[in-house]
Amino acid sequence: MSYVIGVDLGTSAVKVLLVSKTGEVVDEESKSYPLYHDQPGYSEQEPNDWVKQTKLAIKAITDRLDDPAKIEGLSFSGQMHGLVLVDGNGEPLRRAILWNDTRTTGECREIEQNIGLEQLHLITKNPALEGFTLPKLLWVKKHQPELFQKASTFLLPKDYLRYCLAGDISMDYSDAAGTLLLNVAEKAWSEEMCEKNDIPISLCPPLVGSYQQTGTILEAVAKETGLSSTCKVFAGGADNACGAIGAGILEDGVTLSSTGTSGVVLSYEATGDKDFQGQVHYFNHGDPSAFYTMGVTLAAGYSLSWFKDTFAKDISFDQLVMEAKASTVGAKGLLFTPYIVGERTPHPDSAIRSSFIGVHANHTRGDFARAVIEGITFSLNESVEIFRSKGKKIDKVVAIGGGAKSDLWLQIQADIFNAEVVTLSNEQGPGMGAAILAAVGSGWYNKLEDCANDFVSQSKIYQPIKTNVDKYQALFKLYQQVYHSTKQLNHQLAMFR
Ligand code: XUL
Repeated sequence: MSYVIGVDLGTSAVKVLLVSKTGEVVDEESKSYPLYHDQPGYSEQEPNDWVKQTKLAIKAITDRLDDPAKIEGLSFSGQMHGLVLVDGNGEPLRRAILWNDTRTTGECREIEQNIGLEQLHLITKNPALEGFTLPKLLWVKKHQPELFQKASTFLLPKDYLRYCLAGDISMDYSDAAGTLLLNVAEKAWSEEMCEKNDIPISLCPPLVGSYQQTGTILEAVAKETGLSSTCKVFAGGADNACGAIGAGILEDGVTLSSTGTSGVVLSYEATGDKDFQGQVHYFNHGDPSAFYTMGVTLAAGYSLSWFKDTFAKDISFDQLVMEAKASTVGAKGLLFTPYIVGERTPHPDSAIRSSFIGVHANHTRGDFARAVIEGITFSLNESVEIFRSKGKKIDKVVAIGGGAKSDLWLQIQADIFNAEVVTLSNEQGPGMGAAILAAVGSGWYNKLEDCANDFVSQSKIYQPIKTNVDKYQALFKLYQQVYHSTKQLNHQLAMFR
């Protein structure tokens, strides 16, 4: 039996999946690494922590496998947007600045001035957001010019990891789309974006397709990990693109809701020529000819884990969800906005913060937990509503991530989205997408769809319940007012943070 490996380089941990030729997850291993928040709004990681922990996770898997030489190929899914600035020897010049770092509001406004909003949306298909890579490059250029001068290229997290495992410097289209330097429709670095923002185009690495082979495992890495040096390495993709592939979102009309640390609602697009005026993200897919649109809730799973860590540390997640289940639709008149680290869609605002609205002396911890789950889902529904307003039909949503692990949350999604929500059997998230890239790259299949059809199958279906849908539609209108009603207050409070 031959195998492939899918490496999912996440924000809190790396998860490595060993997948057989029949699509079965035969083994998996996860290793975590620290996040550094040295100042408010800062979020950084040590690139070499990713490398060290990935090698250890792979080693644990090869140690348990009879014949690791049967691992034919390996590919990646990576947390998006993080800036890894490297010198001419391929050494990182500083810690990586991550997707959830919000220090670059000033740089975002500069980009808008430098290029103009219309041109920005035309070329990059996206708004200038703190999380994206170009604002981070401009920040380093301004605040750490001595480091910027030493830079030979910039990479994204999984590209740096791939460089360390296989020795090539390159970036795939789906991840490059999140830099704000790519002409998304043309699939080429934009000279205009580079020139207008005074970034030498020579810093941009060569572009590759997600299942294109970029090398084989380096000899030294083979010794450390137990992999064979003939194991082929394929470029990989952005975690959201890989999440889409791993959930079979490879044709028009299927929507994905994914709740990890951040949450996304993602929809397949066959062409790159639509104009969403920067309201949602519009990126290249791992399928080389396709695209996807996506709305992002910055703190989805993170809002619930924050709530649990802060107010329910001594009980399990299951217990907390049981308490939430005992509450009612609308959490007995309690609303929550999941803005604990700011928001992206539909309010790109790094200074907005969360609110609980309607707190009453009778509310229990379960009501609060339910309000958090509902608030995260309302935020995702903002993206669903944007897609619907642009004429997209959303009547079936594939749910993955933390929000797909609880019956309660799945039913809440069906009721708030007013759509059928389906789960996957043996859901593995973006790691499965990475494994599918490796399987197609290895020649096991000609097309991603064919591989996904064999590797991914749907499991449970949750239908919207009419009475709940009606209540949530009324509550959603109130939820939508909270941002506007609390914006000024939060912006003033920002001075006291
Ligand atoms: C997408 C985004 C996040 C990260 C999480 O634009 O910033 O979903 O990809 O890893």
